[in-house]
Amino acid sequence: MERVHIFDTTLRDGEQSPGFSMNRQEKRRLARQLEELGVDIIEAGFPIASPGDLEGVRAVARDVRRCRVAALARAKLVDVEAALRALEPAAQPRLHIFLATSDLHLHYKLRMSRSEALEAIVSMVSYGRARCPEVEFSAEDASRTEADFLCAVMSAAAEAGASILNIPDTTGYSVPEEYGELFRRVRQRLGNADGLTLSAHCHDDLGLAVANSLAAVRAGARQVECTINGIGERAGNASLEEIVVALAVRQASFGVNTNIRLNQIYATSRLLSEITGVAVPPNKAVVGANAFAHEAGIHQDGIIKNPLTYEIIPPEAVGVPGRQLVLGKHSGRNALRARLKELGYELSDVELAECYREVIALADATKKITNHQLLTTLHKVLRRRRAAVPAAQSVAVS
Ligand code: KIV
Ligand code: ZN
Repeated sequence: MERVHIFDTTLRDGEQSPGFSMNRQEKRRLARQLEELGVDIIEAGFPIASPGDLEGVRAVARDVRRCRVAALARAKLVDVEAALRALEPAAQPRLHIFLATSDLHLHYKLRMSRSEALEAIVSMVSYGRARCPEVEFSAEDASRTEADFLCAVMSAAAEAGASILNIPDTTGYSVPEEYGELFRRVRQRLGNADGLTLSAHCHDDLGLAVANSLAAVRAGARQVECTINGIGERAGNASLEEIVVALAVRQASFGVNTNIRLNQIYATSRLLSEITGVAVPPNKAVVGANAFAHEAGIHQDGIIKNPLTYEIIPPEAVGVPGRQLVLGKHSGRNALRARLKELGYELSDVELAECYREVIALADATKKITNHQLLTTLHKVLRRRRAAVPAAQSVAVS
């Protein structure tokens, strides 16, 4: 089975979004966990951005031994020199050079012609390749670049020594069929390009970053660039956990694998939240607090009978401590019985019915019932029943 390489850019594209900046020690901590997670490449930063970032990349490059460490540089000599300096201690360095190629960016942002852009790409990629064993080239705003020019750029970068060619959807503008088609087109143009890897890098402005990344994999991308919890510029980057879990759950359909240890996903997501102080939205796929929580009575009943009824991923497979049957106004009797059993109580049907009525009434007012509230309600019901029917009994399980 072919392998898709996971390029994690949490420490670079993720880190450069508001509220997510990390200092050197924080980057080192997260990088160690990313290594544990099994990512293939860690993009540690953009060394020309600040002396602190250069030092951060250097520290990660020093610590990390099992995966490649990448540093980003524009196609400019000062950037490339800074990135090379930061990568000096790396066991497996990767120099990542980028230049925008869409006419919009060339004209308004860079004030460069297409031929000047091509010249800068070829010159910086060959300079970098002479000094670093592995060079990746990214055509920024590739999805809005005229396709023939993009193909010419990719061929030129490959000839100059880039072995990884990244086709970013920088602005999150693309849709899956179109993005996949772009990969097919570039692949066709590169011909029998042994030793070249095409890479996807998607932003989530239309909520399509993961779908676009998966479309690229179907079209031959063998590297995907993504971030933990989907953090990144504006609406974020494609979320690592969603991509790797989709590739695993639907492996029969995609026919590829990754090196990711799925059971490290939750710990990595939590560590990022802890470091940045930014909580994961509760409804976030795979790692959100509600990803394995069930409140509706019909769902809770199904889960109790067989978790496959409503879960396509076992929570423990991604390192989530366990599923939750949330007690709320939509909950069913079976979930209440199961929760009480967990807490050590086995009730008669009549007691359960009474307790259920009280719990639902309370849930209407408070939305979610904590164990403390549940036990208070239970004892109130039991006291009332004992007063009314002295023989009424509940059995403590443990
Ligand atoms: O979104 C983008 O185009 C980038 C490149 C620098 C790879 O982050
Ligand atoms: Zn990006």
